[in-house]
Amino acid sequence: MNIFMQKKIRLFLAFSVIGLPCHATTLPSPPDTPSETEMGTTEQIELGRLLFFDKELSGNRNISCATCHHPLTHTGDSLSLSVGEGGQGLGAFRTTGSGYDAIAERVHRNSPALFNLGQPNATHLFHDGRVAIDPEQESGFISPAGSDLPLGLNNIVAVQAMFPVTSATEMAGQGDENEISAAVANGDLAGPSGVWELLAQRLSHIPGYFDLFKAAYPDQIDSSTDITFIMAANAIAAFEISTWSARNAPFDQQLRGENVMSDSALRGMVLFNEKGCTGCHGGPLQSDNRFHAIAMPQIGPGEGDNTDGFSDGLEDFGRERATMDIADRYKFRTPSLRNVELTAPYGHAGAYATLENIVRHYINPIGSLMNYDQNQVVLPSRVDLDSIDFVVMDTPLRVGAIAQAALREPQLRPVNMTPDDVADIVEFLKALTDPESIDLTDNIPYSVPSGLPIID
Ligand code: HEC
Ligand code: HEC
Repeated sequence: MNIFMQKKIRLFLAFSVIGLPCHATTLPSPPDTPSETEMGTTEQIELGRLLFFDKELSGNRNISCATCHHPLTHTGDSLSLSVGEGGQGLGAFRTTGSGYDAIAERVHRNSPALFNLGQPNATHLFHDGRVAIDPEQESGFISPAGSDLPLGLNNIVAVQAMFPVTSATEMAGQGDENEISAAVANGDLAGPSGVWELLAQRLSHIPGYFDLFKAAYPDQIDSSTDITFIMAANAIAAFEISTWSARNAPFDQQLRGENVMSDSALRGMVLFNEKGCTGCHGGPLQSDNRFHAIAMPQIGPGEGDNTDGFSDGLEDFGRERATMDIADRYKFRTPSLRNVELTAPYGHAGAYATLENIVRHYINPIGSLMNYDQNQVVLPSRVDLDSIDFVVMDTPLRVGAIAQAALREPQLRPVNMTPDDVADIVEFLKALTDPESIDLTDNIPYSVPSGLPIID
């Protein structure tokens, strides 16, 4: 390696230590690790772990948080689009179910991995950031529940945990097939017979949970009727935040002066900066926590949005859905790239199956969108769902609208990369894998208080 390259590597490492993209001139960002209180007590973490794996939290008792964020699939589900309640099995073997119990539709977006949640810079959660920290709100947060969001949620991760249980497709079920889905269908989340109260009652009827809640919240629990879903959400957040930290990759070791990254990965690290990736993927966790339109191909049943001239709701406007600002159309949050090697497929709808394909996307984002190869999607098959799954990418007008948004993105421009450059960048991305995250089997409990199965 020549002397210029060595100099560039030292410069990049020096800037990365203080958490800045190389060209940034602002003050260093705050520390990127969660505080002690957000980590929770040992008892809260254990309660949260059991709740995370317990299908009791779903209307039809057939799916848990872990189904879509399983340790065996590195806290994602290894699918392009998640398969919610009604599906069977895990990861690549998950099916869309059959007969009466089959899923009604696929989940609209890709299940993100849950590493490094709770770090102070992550002010927004979800691909569109619809859950966000906002000191102006009484609860401290913006969320889809608006003023119905209860007080007492410890952090943004706990706020997020209130919502999967309120989604018909993810966990609650359809129509009036159970009492939770019926409350969802009525739009009743926070009322005395709303989703959160009904779930608290379910938990209070399971003997094993009383001792666990009492141990986790000794000052707040005298009888099982004191259990609230707010406590459950806080415990789940404590579990997620404390368990899935991934900050000790070869990249971090290199930052500490140990020479562990390969020459190819080191070249990739310099290219990652020179090719403008750090403009959006800057800082120690490789995210600016902002929203950008990068011409990402879009597949699936959509979020109910429509470009002019369409009325089938098969599109996903991304950030605009949260801000109502048309300038935010097709923008999605820049994801952290920690452990990215372990969490394919990539993008908000899981359009790209491999790291190589998503890195190559940046050579010519719009060309890549236009020539998108749908054969790479990872979706369990169900014929009657397949016909609608790709329609967005089959319609030039809609593809054109996504391309237009990307043309207006100031930080996105075609990047000249040779096949060797792409390979080096992929090697760099692999140097962001924390070896401790490769085998997460230890996170799986042997059983949960409801007695429901853990691995389908
Ligand atoms: C059916 C699959 C499914 C289930 C079940 C599920 N999730 Fe998710 N999760 C997703 C998808 C898909 C997203 C992204 C949704 C979006 O951005 O609109 C997501 C997003 C998240 C996020 C945000 C991560 C980020 O970086 O923004 C967290 C945290 C999370 N889920 C935790 C949970 C918890 C806790 C539960 C159980 C209470 C749960 N999930 C149940 C699929 C699922
Ligand atoms: C303009 C900002 C921007 C730039 C520049 C940028 N990215 Fe991204 N990147 C994003 C956004 C936003 C997403 C998520 C898009 C989505 O979900 O639709 C993303 C997604 C990714 C992903 C997938 C992560 C996942 O978990 O799904 C990888 C890998 C990635 N980018 C690598 C790179 C590389 C390598 C470069 C430089 C060649 C780069 N990015 C340049 C904003 C950017």
